[in-house]
Amino acid sequence: MDVALSLDNVTCRFGKLVAVDGLSLQVRPGEVLGLLGPNGAGKTTTLHLITGLLRPDSGDVRVLGYSPWTEARQVRQRIGLVPQETNVYDDLSALDNLWHHAALYCDNLDAVAGRMEALLRLMELWERRADRLRTYSGGMKRRLALARALLHDPPIILFDEPTLGVDVQGRHVLWAHIKSLQAQGKTFVVSTNDMNEADVLCDRVVFASHRLRRCG
Ligand SMILES: Nc1ncnc2c1ncn2[C@@H]1O[C@H](COP(=O)(O)OP(=O)(O)O)[C@@H](O)[C@H]1O
Ligand SMILES: [Mg+2]
Repeated sequence: MDVALSLDNVTCRFGKLVAVDGLSLQVRPGEVLGLLGPNGAGKTTTLHLITGLLRPDSGDVRVLGYSPWTEARQVRQRIGLVPQETNVYDDLSALDNLWHHAALYCDNLDAVAGRMEALLRLMELWERRADRLRTYSGGMKRRLALARALLHDPPIILFDEPTLGVDVQGRHVLWAHIKSLQAQGKTFVVSTNDMNEADVLCDRVVFASHRLRRCG
């Protein structure tokens, strides 16, 4: 099987708390995989293990064959993370938020300007590009965070709770954007505590009733 991402028997502890307990899963290129579970199930921890922000106590993670710890650069080039908390700057415009991110993370700033425009248009934010984010709705901020994660054109996107706190209309817009990116070949891992979201959005779901455990 073609594999974009794999976790093999991954365990992550915080002191005595086992946040992720022997989780195994594989994500195929081009699919949207859901991590579904209640608060505290270990979803965010799992996404951070994939990016290399956290290191497991045991087990192995591979991103297109690369290790997040020994091959961090290769992994970061291939992954875009949209974090659970939308950590954008409310006093900056959409464009300035993207430039700030690009200055920190993108190698080729010349190529990035054109990409910013394309992504802001794609996310239907181009008309609002000069507005400060404090004037944006929750859904618009999530779309900007998605545009930011796509700046370096990674094949894999990790989207932590895409529509938490987003109104109904905004949820449908975000889902449509994720689906169209999937149609363009992107692979997604999406965490959610919302069964409806998992049902609408995901091709396959890893369900965690309490904590993320061994899964197929
Ligand atoms: N940095 C940390 N230090 C200690 N405990 C943590 C840390 N991060 C997460 N946890 C704990 O690990 C468990 C899983 O958290 P998390 O992955 O955020 O769950 P979810 O995203 O599914 O809500 C929770 O009990 C949480 O309190
Ligand atoms: Mg979380």
